Amino acid sequence: MADLKTNFLGIESPNPFWLASAPPTDKEYNVRRAFEAGWGGVVWKTLGAEGPPIVNVNGPRYGAIHGADRRLLGLNNIELITDRPLEINLEEIARVKADYPDRAVIVSIMVPCEEAAWKAILPRVAETGADGIELNFGCPHGMSERGMGSAVGQVPEYIEMVTRWCKTHYDKPVIVKLTPNITDIRHPARAAKNGGADAVSLINTISSITSVNLDNFSPEPSIDGKGSHGGYCGPAVKPIAMNMVAEIARDPETRGLPISGIGGVTTWRDAAEFMALGCGTVQVCTAAMTYGFRVVQEMASGLSQWMDEKGYTSVDAFIGRAVPNVTDWQYLNLNYVAKARIDQEACIKCGRCYAACEDTSHQAIWMKEGRVFEVNDAECVACNLCVDVCPVEACITMERLQPGTTDPRTGRVVQEEYASWTTHPNNPMARAAE
Ligand SMILES: Cc1cc2nc3c(=O)[nH]c(=O)nc-3n(C[C@H](O)[C@H](O)[C@H](O)COP(=O)(O)O)c2cc1C
Ligand code: SF4
Ligand code: SF4
Repeated sequence: MADLKTNFLGIESPNPFWLASAPPTDKEYNVRRAFEAGWGGVVWKTLGAEGPPIVNVNGPRYGAIHGADRRLLGLNNIELITDRPLEINLEEIARVKADYPDRAVIVSIMVPCEEAAWKAILPRVAETGADGIELNFGCPHGMSERGMGSAVGQVPEYIEMVTRWCKTHYDKPVIVKLTPNITDIRHPARAAKNGGADAVSLINTISSITSVNLDNFSPEPSIDGKGSHGGYCGPAVKPIAMNMVAEIARDPETRGLPISGIGGVTTWRDAAEFMALGCGTVQVCTAAMTYGFRVVQEMASGLSQWMDEKGYTSVDAFIGRAVPNVTDWQYLNLNYVAKARIDQEACIKCGRCYAACEDTSHQAIWMKEGRVFEVNDAECVACNLCVDVCPVEACITMERLQPGTTDPRTGRVVQEEYASWTTHPNNPMARAAE
């Protein structure tokens, strides 16, 4: 079995799977069971400042998007940070860390955007012996209206300022958790780095309304006939999260800044993908809320098995391996030409590929006698739509035309060498090939 041991900012954990700050990490009872189930670390549910505890709604606080099989694809919540007293949380964190010295225990914090508020809470968090802190600059509902959470995360200057305060008043690693509710994720990430952050984590939830009740016309979850936007997470947000992670990983200004990846991680494969894009750890919330703590066992065994198959003896062997392959559109190889290929043995003759290509794509699939579907290379642009709509996995594949052969669609011989838009004759900004 490959070794999943992880060292993130000097914080060691037996595997890269951490529970994200959320209900699963809101109390000692949960975190102990999570560690017993095998989680490598936790980010404790966000603590707020001393004072009267947070008040949550007393009606439904979650909404969801389901797939046709009722599998949960996206989860929406209007929950706030922890509503348990600060003192109790701190005592519990200290006890748990003492009993599980080999696991990562990170404390998520969100207090008002004033230095005194951070200065007051940080020594108390330090006393727990926790391994580091995560600054919650991401929560998009409830707390943001009070000038915290994403209200800070949307202003790079605030991020830099608060991060600097934390680096001044706390001497263990500071992770800045970013909100995806922003146009360009590189700016908050750069601000975190400039403020001295040891790492960034992302994403927090995406502002969302999941559904509207068509009887009473209330957004859901509905509280006495009214709804409010919540934060969206779960498998549906993974592509958005991975793009943001990749943007930070390849940005010259933040390249090398450690990243903890969050957003829709449900399987070992999701985790491996985030890690290939540069994440040193992954954090999980919705999958644990949906399937329970033991889901980590599948994640760990799957990742370990894949690593064995690939010959990776440590997670460091593949972390970041996909980053050099993330590029801008203008650098993609326009001499790469492919065509769709249908495996007639696997085809169940449903006709979805035909309908999709005929009505919305390029009229490149023939329906022949006996519902035999065939690709017409002279029309196929290799868009991949048929692959995406076909219900049979790997029934349609994309095959590269070998250099030297003629593409019947364009009549041109496929060239061996790389050529991108930057040098294309149709590009008014084209420059000579290097
Ligand atoms: C019910 C709920 C409560 C959450 N509370 C917090 C929180 O207190 N602090 C925080 O930083 N993130 C919070 N999050 C966001 C998660 O930590 C995580 O960033 C997000 O859910 C994306 O991960 P996922 O797709 O694995 O769920 C919460 C998410 C959910 C669903
Ligand atoms: S790849 Fe696109 S154009 Fe080609 S057959 Fe499939 S849907 Fe049609
Ligand atoms: S969508 Fe797939 S299974 Fe259905 S007809 Fe096309 S190739 Fe066959």
